[in-house]
Amino acid sequence: MGARRSWFLTNGASQANRTAAIAVRGLGERVLIQRSSHSSFTDGMLLAGLVPAFIAPSIDERHGIAHGLTPAVLDEKLADEARAGRAVSSVYAVSPSYFGSVADVAGLAEVAHAHGAALIVDGAWGAHFGFHPELPESPARLGADLVVSSTHKLAGSLTQSAMLHLGRGSWPIALSLWSREPTR
Ligand SMILES: Cc1ncc(COP(=O)(O)O)c(C=O)c1O
Repeated sequence: MGARRSWFLTNGASQANRTAAIAVRGLGERVLIQRSSHSSFTDGMLLAGLVPAFIAPSIDERHGIAHGLTPAVLDEKLADEARAGRAVSSVYAVSPSYFGSVADVAGLAEVAHAHGAALIVDGAWGAHFGFHPELPESPARLGADLVVSSTHKLAGSLTQSAMLHLGRGSWPIALSLWSREPTR
């Protein structure tokens, strides 16, 4: 998976989303979240006391369905927020989308980091990513700082089993979570 560390969870990717929200609160209170996200991240924001701004995913007008964020749109929105004095500390994106489209996670990570924000990727529907060359790459290998994965959806496991992966970047979230690891 390319993760520096993985936490194996019960209570599903919902619990991973809540945990991710609490983790990024340590970086600052503002988070930019993709509008088409799972309600568990909203739970997490409320629990953590995060202040959200919302960003719309790209829309497939022909089929009337929402896909993901693009790096260009993210860049524009982060610049707008910063200009308005609301610079965010973290970005929350969903990939793959509910309809199976995969975002340019490497591009999103580059943009988020350039704006001083950590990137959380909700990859609930992509627990199998990165396990075969013909599948999309694991978001943890593409620069995401935290990756939410719902093992019991497409990977096949007992209901409620999920994972939260910590990326390998040099981002402070990695360091702050890593430094809390018990010494062995
Ligand atoms: C994008 C996304 N994230 C998180 C979740 C929560 O997953 P779980 O059922 O493992 O709690 C879902 C559930 O459908 C989801 O679609």
